[in-house]
Amino acid sequence: MELGLVTLLRTAWIAVTLPIVIASIASSKLSSFHQLVSKFAKRGKTMQPRSCKFTVPDRFFSQVYIVAVVWTTILLLTTWLYAYKMAPLTSESFHILHLASHLMGGSHIFSFHKSHLTALEHRYRIWRTVLLLLLMEAQVLSRLFETFNVSNYTPSARMHIFGYLTGLFYYIAAPLSLCCTLAPKVFKFTLNLVAEFIVKGKNQMPATEIDWCGSVNPLMKLGWRQWIGSAIFLWGWIHQCHCHASLGSLQAHAEQVDDYVIPTGDWFEIVSSPHYLDEIVIYAGMVVASGGGDLTVWLLFVFVVANLGFAAAETHKSYLSKFENYPRNRFASIPFLY
Ligand SMILES: NC(=O)c1ccc[n+]([C@@H]2O[C@H](COP(=O)([O-])OP(=O)(O)OC[C@H]3O[C@@H](n4cnc5c(N)ncnc54)[C@H](OP(=O)(O)O)[C@@H]3O)[C@@H](O)[C@H]2O)c1
Repeated sequence: MELGLVTLLRTAWIAVTLPIVIASIASSKLSSFHQLVSKFAKRGKTMQPRSCKFTVPDRFFSQVYIVAVVWTTILLLTTWLYAYKMAPLTSESFHILHLASHLMGGSHIFSFHKSHLTALEHRYRIWRTVLLLLLMEAQVLSRLFETFNVSNYTPSARMHIFGYLTGLFYYIAAPLSLCCTLAPKVFKFTLNLVAEFIVKGKNQMPATEIDWCGSVNPLMKLGWRQWIGSAIFLWGWIHQCHCHASLGSLQAHAEQVDDYVIPTGDWFEIVSSPHYLDEIVIYAGMVVASGGGDLTVWLLFVFVVANLGFAAAETHKSYLSKFENYPRNRFASIPFLY
């Protein structure tokens, strides 16, 4: 089951990334394919009013974030409980693990051939997964908060229904990709707990006292990759909140309700979509925190880069055609490169 889920997710990421990559190739032979993909990807400022029948209002995307928060929270809480019950890690365990890692030459110990993993390394990986889900939870919670309180959707802004469905797919598959090697075991563990609860009833269940230190301490003792990854994530996350606040305030400067305005200040002076660049930084942080050895996490990251690279190029093009005075020295999303 574990391999089946991993293969399914990897295939899905490749299947959704490939069309975007092909559509991004600058070739006249691919221009009709590019138009087809960009029609599906258009939203808000990049979509001409009434250019497509199958659209939903942009603000409907908040429903996607509600699903994202519920799903990520379920994955996080069940995985955390599983880690706490089945993979307790004491300070001594970390000393042994770090010593062994040092003696065996660092990265060797994190090789993802399961058969070579000792029980300790396996526990370490479980807690690393909890950390990744915590980072994802922070991301989806902030996006949900922002859609209701920060973003200012223009009343006429719409998106293709395909974009809405892709968003739903994305926020189911992304958190699952961060924990897919563990998910079947966590699912079985949770099912057993629920079955025990149903059979025995609340009063017969063994009293569980949560040791809060024991449930948080292992997260504090993970390795340097997790600390650096979390720091990169935090940097992108804070800056993205800042960018979203700037975009949310733009409508106040518009002459009409439905008007778009040239964003200015901070990274907006260098690139057209710094919030997309931040999203790439956020997921790069997750790749680093994952240890860099999980192909599924890499494929998720490649999708984010391809998808947002494409969206940034479309946004940049729409700014250049909409505003005559749009600064020509700005890049789409990666400074001095793209
Ligand atoms: N992980 C992924 O694969 C993925 C995919 C897509 C998005 N995202 C993330 O989700 C976040 C939002 O993405 P998005 O595509 O919705 O961003 P967006 O199109 O730039 O819109 C963000 C908000 O700002 C408003 N806005 C944008 N430019 C404006 C302008 N020039 N003048 C006035 N208002 C403006 C939009 O209004 P309107 O709605 O009225 O246009 C919307 O309310 C981003 O940070 C992005 O990184 C992630």
